[in-house]
Amino acid sequence: MSVPLLDLHAQNDPLKEAFTATFERVMASNCFIMGPELEAFETAMAQYLGVKHAFGVSSGTDALLLALMVLDIGPGDEVLCPTFTFFATGGSIARLGATPVFVDVEASTFNIDVQDAAQKITPKTKAIMPVHLFGQTADMNAILELASKHKLRVIEDTAQAIGARYAGKHAGTLGDFGAYSFFPTKNLGGFGDSGLLVTQDDTLAEKARLLRVHGARHTYLHEEVGGNFRMDPLQAALLLEKLPKLDSFVQLRRSHATFYNTTFTEELKGPIEAGKLILPQALTEENHSWNQYTLLLPKAGHRDTLMQHLSDQNIGCRIYYPYPLDAQPCFAKLNEKPANTPQAHSLCKACLSIPVYPELTTKQRSSVADAVIEFIKRI
Ligand SMILES: Cc1ncc(COP(=O)(O)O)c(C=O)c1O
Repeated sequence: MSVPLLDLHAQNDPLKEAFTATFERVMASNCFIMGPELEAFETAMAQYLGVKHAFGVSSGTDALLLALMVLDIGPGDEVLCPTFTFFATGGSIARLGATPVFVDVEASTFNIDVQDAAQKITPKTKAIMPVHLFGQTADMNAILELASKHKLRVIEDTAQAIGARYAGKHAGTLGDFGAYSFFPTKNLGGFGDSGLLVTQDDTLAEKARLLRVHGARHTYLHEEVGGNFRMDPLQAALLLEKLPKLDSFVQLRRSHATFYNTTFTEELKGPIEAGKLILPQALTEENHSWNQYTLLLPKAGHRDTLMQHLSDQNIGCRIYYPYPLDAQPCFAKLNEKPANTPQAHSLCKACLSIPVYPELTTKQRSSVADAVIEFIKRI
């Protein structure tokens, strides 16, 4: 049975009537920049996440960039971030002339290794940017403690983890800033590029509001050099239609992950004990929103052959991520010393993500599991 890695038709087609009515409403308004549709979305997001301030922005990448700009991060500053993540995490730091300092990750959670982060702090370190990778929250207690000890700002890259919680609070709401993405593959998938920046701090919020629109409080009078980081009202209105479904999407993702973990644990006890297969784990149910379900096949060649085996059966799968940031050519000259991130380098060679999107049917997920089991039993 053919199973895509993500099926946007299955998610968006049932909502077509609501989307069409929304589209017509926004068209009729002829308000295409800022305005009430965007404000309504921001109010709903702030309420959902339990934060004081939420700004719709042009992308998750721009949410990170805007946060760093508000914090005046620039040349001469260092920002700690995990090396096992999407490019935007480190790229946004480098774009401002600051130095991303690449930190290793914990193999068990894929998230930033706080001990390694502590060792990499220097007098130049201004901030830490944990990523809640694949939907699981990073160790925020340890991160906040480290940040408070060294007076570091905390920007949570929550692009993949909307819907996850840490100690009862939404991921992205514990640091100075939380940055979210509505890229179509995310838990709340939009209709093109867009993102959200949130904060509880009134002063930071005021500056974010200003920098989002070229640093101008009044038209053509620029107090700061900002950018155009606005979210389109059409995007905001369509996302608002989808927001009430977000928690049920996350619950479905969790049920698929539980199914995979239970089935693989029962069927593949021997290979798991032999270290041929490592399953992803949720620290607690609330910690994980399962944007990705990522297997590890540590033995040389196994990951790539499984990928071929699944592709041959038209089962979608993908390597998130094939290279750590410290191995990216564009960062080759940034750090004086090698980053020394052995866990991340091993994960890049072993990881493979399989379908876990909400609308996966029980038949589809069983056929994915069967294909994985058949392969693992053979190796
Ligand atoms: C961890 C992480 N950070 C940042 C981003 C950037 O988000 P966007 O694609 O909306 O710019 C993404 C999404 O692709 C991501 O996965």
